[in-house]
Amino acid sequence: MDRRSFIRFLAALGAVSATGSIWPSSGHASEPDLEVELRAVPDDISLFAGPRTRVWRFKGEVTKGDPRQLQSADESWTGPIFRVRRGQRVRIRFKNLIPQESIIHWHGLHVSPGNDGHPKMAVPTSGEYVYDFKVLNRAGTYWYHPHPHRLTGPQVYGGMAGLFLISDQEERALGLPSGEYDLPVVFQDRTFGPDNQLVYVRSSRERMNGFLGNRIMTNGQAEGSFSVKGRPYRLRILNGSNSRMFRLGWSDGSPLRILATDGGLLNRPLNVPDIMLGPAERIELWADFGDMSAGSEVSLQSLPFNPGGGRMGMMAPQTALPHGASYELARFRVSTAGQGRTSPPERLASLSALDPASAANADSPRRFYLSMNHMQPTINGRTFGMSEVAPDEMVRFGETEIWEFINTGGMMALPHPMHIHGLSFQVLWRSGGPGYRFADQGWKDSVMVMPGERVALIMRFTDHKGMYLYHCHNLEHEDLGMMRNYLIRS
Ligand code: C2O
Ligand code: CU
Ligand code: CU
Repeated sequence: MDRRSFIRFLAALGAVSATGSIWPSSGHASEPDLEVELRAVPDDISLFAGPRTRVWRFKGEVTKGDPRQLQSADESWTGPIFRVRRGQRVRIRFKNLIPQESIIHWHGLHVSPGNDGHPKMAVPTSGEYVYDFKVLNRAGTYWYHPHPHRLTGPQVYGGMAGLFLISDQEERALGLPSGEYDLPVVFQDRTFGPDNQLVYVRSSRERMNGFLGNRIMTNGQAEGSFSVKGRPYRLRILNGSNSRMFRLGWSDGSPLRILATDGGLLNRPLNVPDIMLGPAERIELWADFGDMSAGSEVSLQSLPFNPGGGRMGMMAPQTALPHGASYELARFRVSTAGQGRTSPPERLASLSALDPASAANADSPRRFYLSMNHMQPTINGRTFGMSEVAPDEMVRFGETEIWEFINTGGMMALPHPMHIHGLSFQVLWRSGGPGYRFADQGWKDSVMVMPGERVALIMRFTDHKGMYLYHCHNLEHEDLGMMRNYLIRS
């Protein structure tokens, strides 16, 4: 199905207006607040001594609006950082200049199906796609990356990903650390050959387990080291890895002070000794270096954990950075001493918990069994079909539902970071797993489901109608077809 027939298909379902317009109707009357040209391009960057590294990356410019809303870095592969305000209308002209089809997905954003980057919308080399949407989300740390059929893993791995930061009034009123003290920290694992070039999946086993790199890159650079002042920072951490989880903790044992998860600020800061962060998940930390002396250092680490995978995991190709081992992620070196520690605001936001009793399916939650079937990861035994939506994958606009993801466990079981497009959800409970502490609080769009674990989510289908994806965000699993459509209909 091409894009036009796809739109006709959506129109037939009542998901978009019959004129075929996928833009909000008000969109035609007013002009966007921000217009950006965003190109996917082959490039080479200097990451290590010796040969430059060939990457695919996003590059962009503001073509209308405030140029400060897009921040680019040169010798890094991560894409320009968007800084937008809730309520702004954004138009992004995407030009695909890599030698493969591609399309951009705005991860976590509540945009219409036509703006969501379904693989069906992929454009060929030299093709263009224009996005035009109003930013509905709460303030938070969101991101963008490609989503073409079977090519998401290699394209993200090649360097195509960037942050999409949203602010709003509630958040600005808090006066959290801003400017240079608002620090994006994107962790991604990568393997480089002796020629400094990226090495990706080399075997079907590596594909089935999910690719694990042998070193951590921070913000698309080799040096995970920040020079900071003795004062509080807001760290916006994204696990941008294809399949690696982190168990984050500070090297000096002080608690993590979590301000926000995927969909923005929590009601109040959460103090925990450590937290698991799966692929695509974000947390924001209050990191105060105020009581450290000049020249001293503290680092963010990944602490040991059991990543599952049983025998399969043990048979996975050796990496210098075994999944679940203990290693350093990034180091913070204090340049000038401060005047002691301060605390984040006690009240951050006011979120209310969705009530399970209000769910249309409170008595019979929708269940999604995640299992490995002869090297093939599946959802309820199914794999991705471009336009396929099964009867049990249709929901009603305006309703609240409970979904359960059930990792069937067993010797072959792997962790599955599950992600739902088009909305944010809340985690009701999890049971049966290894009992790690996950970033389950607040509004979420991605959630870890460990081997043997059952995780219940609650969500409302209130922003748009139409067809969206849900899938495993282990990008090798996604590319293997551990992805499905669901349909929000009237
Ligand atoms: Cu971040 Cu469908 O993905
Ligand atoms: Cu997404
Ligand atoms: Cu998976």
